[in-house]
Amino acid sequence: MFRLNGLVAQVEAPPIAEAETWLKLAPRNRVAINLCQAVPSYPPAEAMQREIARLSQLPHTGLYTEILGLPGLRAELAAQFSASYGATLTPQHFAITAGCNQAYCVALMALAGRGDNAILPSPYYFNHAMWLSMLGIEARSFAAFSDRSPLPWPEEAEALIDDRTRAIILCSPNNPTGAIYPPELIGAFYDLALRRGVALVLDETYKDFRGEASPPHRIFQTPQWADSFIQLYSFSKAYAMTGYRVGSIAAGPALMAEIEKIMDCIAICAPTLSQHAALFGLKHLRQWKEEKVHLMQKRIAAVHRAFDAPGLDYELASCGAYFAYVRHPFRGLAAKTVAQRLAAEHDLLCLPGSMFGPGQEDYLRLAFANIEASLMPQVVERLRESQIR
Ligand SMILES: Cc1ncc(COP(=O)(O)O)c(C=O)c1O
Repeated sequence: MFRLNGLVAQVEAPPIAEAETWLKLAPRNRVAINLCQAVPSYPPAEAMQREIARLSQLPHTGLYTEILGLPGLRAELAAQFSASYGATLTPQHFAITAGCNQAYCVALMALAGRGDNAILPSPYYFNHAMWLSMLGIEARSFAAFSDRSPLPWPEEAEALIDDRTRAIILCSPNNPTGAIYPPELIGAFYDLALRRGVALVLDETYKDFRGEASPPHRIFQTPQWADSFIQLYSFSKAYAMTGYRVGSIAAGPALMAEIEKIMDCIAICAPTLSQHAALFGLKHLRQWKEEKVHLMQKRIAAVHRAFDAPGLDYELASCGAYFAYVRHPFRGLAAKTVAQRLAAEHDLLCLPGSMFGPGQEDYLRLAFANIEASLMPQVVERLRESQIR
C-alpha cells in the first residue's frame, strides 16, 4: 500500500461536506433549512445565462486562455477596481483564477513554504488554515472576536511575527462573522506588513456586499502597495457564479511571475467560458449586482428583526455580508454538538464556530444568503425550539 502525504492527511475533512451529513442523522420532520454553505439563493442574471449559452457555441470558448487570464477581463477589473478604490491599477496587476479559493492557494504557495508561518486572526475562513497546513506552513492565530470587539488588532498580530513569518491573512467582510473592517484598520495592518517585510493578504470575496460606495480601504492608493499587499476577489457571490469558478488576485510583478508558474501547473487557466461570463458581468450587470446587494441588506435587516424575538436565548453576536454569527445558550457544550443537534432534531443546518478556529465553541455561523428574508422567523423559531430540553 502506498503512503499518503502526511501534511494533507493530518488536515480535517472538508467542513461543509461533513456538516451536510448531519442532516442524515435522523429522519426529517419537515423541510430542512440549510444555512451551512454561503451560496446565493438565486441563479446568475438571465442576461448572463443567455450570454453563456451564446459563448458555448463559439469555437474559441473551448480553448485555453492566457495563463493569467483573458486580457479583456484583467483590463476591465483594473479599470473598475481603479475607479472603486480611487487608484491606478493596470491589467498586469491582475491574475484570474478558478475561484477565490484557488487565488488564495496560489498566492500562499508563492509566498511561503514548509517551516514558514502565516498569521490568521481567529475566527478565520477554514480553507485558509487548511491550505496552510497542507503546505507545512504554520498558522499562527490570535483571538479577534469577543464581546467587546469583532475586530482583529495589529498589535496582536505583530507579537506573533518572527523571521519565518511570510503573511498576515485577513478577510473583510469577514467569514464567518460578517464583520466589516474599517479602512483605517486594514490600513494599519498594511503599515505593519510593510514595516515588518511580510505580505498582507486580504480576501475581499464579500466586498460588494458592504452596501457602501466608499472604498473598503485605501491601500491601492499608495504608490508602493504591491511591495506588501495582495488582494483576493471572487465572482462567486457578487455575480451568483459559484459553480463557474472565477476569482482574481491583485499583486505586483514579482508575485505575478511566481503565480503564473503555479497556475500553469494547477489549472493552466481559469475556465474560458466562465472568464468570458465574468467579463460580461463586469460590463453589463452593475445594476443587477446592486439590486442583489440591496436584497442582501434587506436580509440583514430581517435577521436583526428575527433575533429581536422575545424568549430567544441565542444572541446575534455579529451580522453582515452573507453571515450571522450567533452565540448559542449552551455554555460548556461544544459548538459541534449544538450544530449536530440543530440539524438532527430541529431541521436547521448551520456550522459550529469551532470549524473557524480556536476559541469559537460558543458560536454558530448562519449563512443567511441562502434563504429568503421571509424564512428568517422560521430559523429563529427552530433555534427557540432547541432551547426546550
Ligand atoms: C472568505 C471566502 N473566500 C473564498 C471563498 C471561495 O470563493 P470561490 O467560490 O471564489 O472560490 C469563500 C466561499 O465561501 C469565502 O467565504
